[in-house]
Amino acid sequence: MEDLSLHILDIVENAISAKAKRIDILVMEEPKEDRLVIEIKDDGIGMDEAVSRKATDPFFTTRTSRRVGLGLSLIAQAAQETGGTVRIESELGKGTKVTATFQYHHIDRKPLGNMIETMTTLLLGNAGLDISYTHQKEGKSYVLNGRSLKERFKDRSLTDPEVIQWLRKDLKEGLAQIGVQG
Ligand SMILES: Nc1ncnc2c1ncn2[C@@H]1O[C@H](COP(=O)(O)OP(=O)(O)OP(=O)(O)O)[C@@H](O)[C@H]1O
Ligand SMILES: [Mg+2]
Repeated sequence: MEDLSLHILDIVENAISAKAKRIDILVMEEPKEDRLVIEIKDDGIGMDEAVSRKATDPFFTTRTSRRVGLGLSLIAQAAQETGGTVRIESELGKGTKVTATFQYHHIDRKPLGNMIETMTTLLLGNAGLDISYTHQKEGKSYVLNGRSLKERFKDRSLTDPEVIQWLRKDLKEGLAQIGVQG
């Protein structure tokens, strides 16, 4: 996988499979501290300790459609390649938090990728869920909240071209303001 944004999609996919209603995505860039943190928190079914311990093993999955489960193992590998880690905190019936830490300036650290398209895809594709996205960089922060998006465009479908256009513009300008390129 080329970009961290694709890993984000994967981890959010896990949350959706776990029947989450609310998903909070946090990207924290701290170049001066040589650290990039991605945190994805959900209120889905959670995992017991045995499952959460095995979750980053590529040969572990609770899927029945195939025998490997790669989402977490791939993000763990991407983090480890930079000297970072992935931490999974989960409680059965409560939810899960996945925190991936990367060494910001490490030569093998994948680029973040296109967060504008990633978030547009996630929000428009999961209109029934409460998804939030917070991006922080060196003390500045941008927040996009799926709930306020729905309130703003109350009577309209999220797939209305005007809504999509507004969303892309908000992401683009908001990220630019904190010094992040889409
Ligand atoms: N947010 C989550 N909530 C509850 N369980 C989870 C969550 N994320 C992962 N898991 C558990 O960990 C397992 C491994 O996740 P992983 O993403 O690595 O593989 P997968 O989702 O099974 O398959 P793939 O990602 O390749 O489609 C899952 O099968 C699931 O049991
Ligand atoms: Mg997965």
